[in-house]
Amino acid sequence: MITVKQVFDLSLKMGMAADPRGLQAIKKHFNRVKHQYNDLPAAEKEYFDINRLTNPYLDSSVLIDDGTTKVKRVLAGIDIGAGEILLASQLNERGKKIDVVIGHHPLGKNLAYLDEAMELQAEVHESHGVPIHLAEKILEERVNEVGRGIHPMNHYQVVNIAELLHINLMNTHTTTDNLVDQFMYNFLKKRAPETVGDLMKALMEIPEYQQAKRLGTGPKIFAGNPKHRIGKFLLEMTGGTNPSSKVYEQYSRAGISTIVGMHIREQSMEAVNTHQLNVIIAGHISSDSLGMNLFLDELEKRGIEVVPCGGLIRVSRVKKK
Ligand SMILES: [Fe+2]
Repeated sequence: MITVKQVFDLSLKMGMAADPRGLQAIKKHFNRVKHQYNDLPAAEKEYFDINRLTNPYLDSSVLIDDGTTKVKRVLAGIDIGAGEILLASQLNERGKKIDVVIGHHPLGKNLAYLDEAMELQAEVHESHGVPIHLAEKILEERVNEVGRGIHPMNHYQVVNIAELLHINLMNTHTTTDNLVDQFMYNFLKKRAPETVGDLMKALMEIPEYQQAKRLGTGPKIFAGNPKHRIGKFLLEMTGGTNPSSKVYEQYSRAGISTIVGMHIREQSMEAVNTHQLNVIIAGHISSDSLGMNLFLDELEKRGIEVVPCGGLIRVSRVKKK
């Protein structure tokens, strides 16, 4: 049986193995963070989140852990709010003991650090042919914008409720977004769709997207035409949140023709259309669910029961004996 910390560490290990930058880049990241920490004046060291030394995704971590629970059942959702924490408490009272609540989207300090989880985007942009000086400057602007957006939020409200009700809590954001990114890359490479229409058909083989379509949010072509060829495509499935609108011009210049993403900002649509890119939006909650499912399956394999909530489209890929 595994502990709350071991559950999170499993997601971290899987997330790092699937990181689009590769493990070498993560090692370099850790080296940089270690030097930053060592160089800090003593007065600043107490504010340094020590997690940074071992976790490259600050939008994901354990928020509450009583330190003794062995995990047999988890309540897992895409968005965890006060309602889901109360739900866990109610289920506990009804004898369905929830050992930890696992959210996807960042909560508490993981939300406050969302901007830092965007770091991997620069290397992803570069791997698609955007020169690093452009990639880094374009990203820096957007990271600052996201940072200013989250700073005033009351990000600890849900964590407070969980503390009062003694509910263990974590969220796994970029750790599982990396999983859907890797899954989708391998899947599309295998299917090798020629046109936008072929790619849409391929996406509809995936049960999470089938269910999303039944519920009204199936994959959608936001720009382009089913007859258009895919050309070189890239995935926007991980990296904290949407990139800067400025990156689409660079992508087009670098020879990318098609973007396959979870979601896109309205203000980016103008850039996408100006630069004639095809955009296929697979779906937000369905894609987040796919990433979470790949992680939750590993818990299921370890005998842990997964109770879905909070928008999670739970699909198990564990082969039943
Ligand atoms: Fe998301």
